[in-house]
Amino acid sequence: MKKFFSLFVLLALALVVSACTSDEKPDTTSDPGSTDKPKDTSSDKGGESAVEIFSWWTGAGEEDGLLALISLFNELHPEIKVENAAVAGGAGTNAKAVLATRMQGNDPPSTFQVHGGEELNKSWVAADKMAPLNDLYEANGWMDKFPDALIEMVSNGDNIYSVPVNVHRGNVIFYNMEVFNEHGIEIPTTLDEFFAVADKLQAAGVVPLSLGDKESWEATQIFENVLAAELGRDDYLKLFAGEIDFTDERVVAAAEKFGKILDYVNEDHASRNWQDSAQLVAEGKAAMINMGDWAKGYFVNDLKLVTNEDFGYFAFPGTVGDFAVITDTFGLPKGIDDVEATKQFLTVLGSVEGQDAFNPLKGSIPARIDADPSKYDDYGKDTIEDFKTAKLFPSLAHGSAASEGFVTKANQAVNIFVTQRDVQNFVDALQNAAPDM
Ligand code: GAL
Repeated sequence: MKKFFSLFVLLALALVVSACTSDEKPDTTSDPGSTDKPKDTSSDKGGESAVEIFSWWTGAGEEDGLLALISLFNELHPEIKVENAAVAGGAGTNAKAVLATRMQGNDPPSTFQVHGGEELNKSWVAADKMAPLNDLYEANGWMDKFPDALIEMVSNGDNIYSVPVNVHRGNVIFYNMEVFNEHGIEIPTTLDEFFAVADKLQAAGVVPLSLGDKESWEATQIFENVLAAELGRDDYLKLFAGEIDFTDERVVAAAEKFGKILDYVNEDHASRNWQDSAQLVAEGKAAMINMGDWAKGYFVNDLKLVTNEDFGYFAFPGTVGDFAVITDTFGLPKGIDDVEATKQFLTVLGSVEGQDAFNPLKGSIPARIDADPSKYDDYGKDTIEDFKTAKLFPSLAHGSAASEGFVTKANQAVNIFVTQRDVQNFVDALQNAAPDM
């Protein structure tokens, strides 16, 4: 664990510099609140309580949901000041490093975005940095309001360590409907069908699949879906439980197919981020993209596209009936100042109202089972239904399937594979990293 943390801190220090010099500075949204409201006595900030919310939700397609949640919280708790400490960079590329530095320096934010699963458990819970939230779950009657599968992802032993605000789906392909119609494309349900569709599009001069792997998690996300397609959900789980080796012939086959998929992407993929690559599909310059459904939030709220008119969606080929779970959660770090105010924020975040303010804008579905489906568009409604019956599997790229140490090494291996296409080197690198899972 010590070794893991020193590596993590080194990475943090290396990345923190780029995060701090980024053009997009962390924004700070605050509400002065009403000064004549009762003061929270738990505060040591001049009598005014405050909650600092740390995430990577800045800018297009990321920020709208968070701002809606903050604005609801401001309405309900004008006496508590909110500091929006968001650090730009998809999938937390920069934010996670800044967070690691702060946690190591005993300067935790009041609450921070963390994926349920190993990112929460193997990093912050294992390091004894998080306070259990069982009392909050009991006080709010949440034990039967969140699905057991999600409660498990945010628990360690008998303790629950964070509150899920959403569920994003990672094994979705969004496609440009006009491009599909123009070229008479049918929705592929298997990888073989996908390759046939991709050949047809490529022959017609259309980029079949958009990729923006300036940050390599985007390519890792494709690879994890190919793994799920080749292994099936149950053996995917065994792979990340260390019961199947990365040198297994099905992982080798997945790597080969992943390589083949990369033959169909836009040439400038290495210079695009996820928004830039989603834009190619929105503009009809590429036919499809495999992206978590934050892309749906981006299409609808930022680019003003209409679901099922401008763009459609289908499960990543070979994973129909499966659901790659990405859940954004927030917990209570030990040693923060405004514990009560932070619990108030977590209470709003875990409420039906909070989830229904956040998720329709974010593109995700509510983590709660009793949220109001009428607040969601067709995509949201379909996904809410799928989540109830699908076989769930945790995302690797988004921190649920394996520790942050392994995810970092997997991203590096993917990055090298994208340029070198050496299947043997790739699976060996993953197998060598497996002890860190
Ligand atoms: C994921 C996160 C999503 C979204 C995405 C792109 O890791 O869970 O909420 O923000 O990154 O940045």
